[in-house]
Amino acid sequence: MKTLVTYMTQTGNTKKIAEAIYGEITGEKEIKDIKDVSGLDAYDLVFVGFPVMQFNIPEPVSKFVSENVAGKNIAFFMTHAVPEGHEAIQSWTGSCKDIAATGNFLGTFECQGELAQPVIDMLLKSDNPEMKAFGEMGPSTKGQPDEAHVQKAKDFAKEIQAKVQ
Ligand SMILES: Cc1cc2nc3c(=O)[nH]c(=O)nc-3n(C[C@H](O)[C@H](O)[C@H](O)COP(=O)(O)O)c2cc1C
Repeated sequence: MKTLVTYMTQTGNTKKIAEAIYGEITGEKEIKDIKDVSGLDAYDLVFVGFPVMQFNIPEPVSKFVSENVAGKNIAFFMTHAVPEGHEAIQSWTGSCKDIAATGNFLGTFECQGELAQPVIDMLLKSDNPEMKAFGEMGPSTKGQPDEAHVQKAKDFAKEIQAKVQ
């Protein structure tokens, strides 16, 4: 059995979760930036990770998944700035299911990821009140994903792998 852990990241949060998942996987495995993945034919199980952006799955990720997921075992992981339990999280999880509709959707892991300072500065300067409010959320994201979330991601990796063995 061969597993791929692939991800998009801008400031490293999603990569941190990707590495935790990768470390926990047994058997043949690869970890790659999604930019470097051309197809999924070689893999029996795929984990796809991304940062939530503009309240959505980044377009390159959803496009890649929709085009390559047919018949694949697939699980997702995402990091976001909103706090745990925020109502939007459910819709993002739903979107993961939607883009994996032609594959075998196995689950989604999500956790908070720190907003990088340049992003906070940019948001605080925005004229859009929604964006500004986002910037004000910045300090509450510091240090995420923390050790507890990394551990949860490891547990998730084991759970998902157990589903396909
Ligand atoms: C341009 C931009 C848009 C973002 N939009 C959202 C958003 O809509 N909702 C959210 O919860 N977080 C949003 N974030 C925060 C990121 O999802 C979060 O910081 C994530 O952990 C970044 O992951 P990375 O370090 O792997 O790039 C946004 C960040 C950036 C830079």
